[in-house]
Amino acid sequence: MERVAIVLAAGRGERLGSSEPKAFVEVAGHPVLEHSARALAAAPSVDAVLPVLPAGMLDGAESLRAAWDLDTVLLDPINGGKTRQQSVYNAVRWLLEYQPAVCWVWVHDAARCFVSAEDAERVLAAAAKTGAALPVIPIHETVKRVVSGHVSQTEDRRELFLAQTPQVFRLEILREALDKAARDHVQGTDCASLVERLGVEVNVVDGRRENWKLTEAGDLDRAERQFAESRQ
Ligand code: C5P
Repeated sequence: MERVAIVLAAGRGERLGSSEPKAFVEVAGHPVLEHSARALAAAPSVDAVLPVLPAGMLDGAESLRAAWDLDTVLLDPINGGKTRQQSVYNAVRWLLEYQPAVCWVWVHDAARCFVSAEDAERVLAAAAKTGAALPVIPIHETVKRVVSGHVSQTEDRRELFLAQTPQVFRLEILREALDKAARDHVQGTDCASLVERLGVEVNVVDGRRENWKLTEAGDLDRAERQFAESRQ
C-alpha cells in the first residue's frame, strides 16, 4: 500500500445547523462521507481510504465497511482532533507508524462530496514533480481587503484563486510541514499552506466549481439538487 486517501470527517459542522457531524448528514440517501470515500476509492491510483472520524464514532468501522463495499481497501477509521490540522496530523502519524510503505496521500474534506476519481488522479499527476499539489478555481468577483470597517486595499484578482481538496502530498513532506507548524504554533486552514511554509513548490491544477464544500444551512438543498441533476 503506497497511496492513501485521507478523508477528513471529524468536524462538527455547526454552521450546517445539523445535530450530527456534517460528514454524517445524508444527501441523496447516503452520508456525505460515503459519497467522498466512494469517489476517491474509484480512482485507480488510490490504494486505500482512511476515514478520520469524530471521537466516539469509531464503533461504526465494521458497519461502514459492510455498508460501503468500496472499490478499494477501507482502513479502520481513526479519531480526528480538535482542529482540522490536528485531524490531519493524527492521520499522518498513524500512517507513518502502521503503514510505513505509504509515500503519497490525498487529503480531502469529506464535506466536498462531489469530488470525482478524475479529480484525485489529476492532482496526483500535478504533485509528482514537486511533491505537493492542489486544485484551485479562479475568483470572478473583485476582492477588497477590509480593516476596521474600511477598505485598505483592492487585490489583483487575476492572481487570486480559491483552494479546494483533494490536496496531494508526499507523506514525508506533509509530516515535515505539520511538525514545523506545531513548533511554530501555526494553524492553517488547509495543508498546502503549511507545505508552502517549508519553501516547497506547490503545484496547482484546475479545480471544479461543482466540487464545493457543504458548509451552511441551505447547502443540503443545493446538494440534493446537484445530485438529482447529475443523475438526469
Ligand atoms: O470546518 P471545515 O469546513 O473547514 O472542515 C473541512 C473538513 O475538515 C470537513 O470535512 C471536516 O469534517 C474536517 N474536520 C476534521 N476535524 C476537525 C475539523 C474539521 O476532520 N477538527
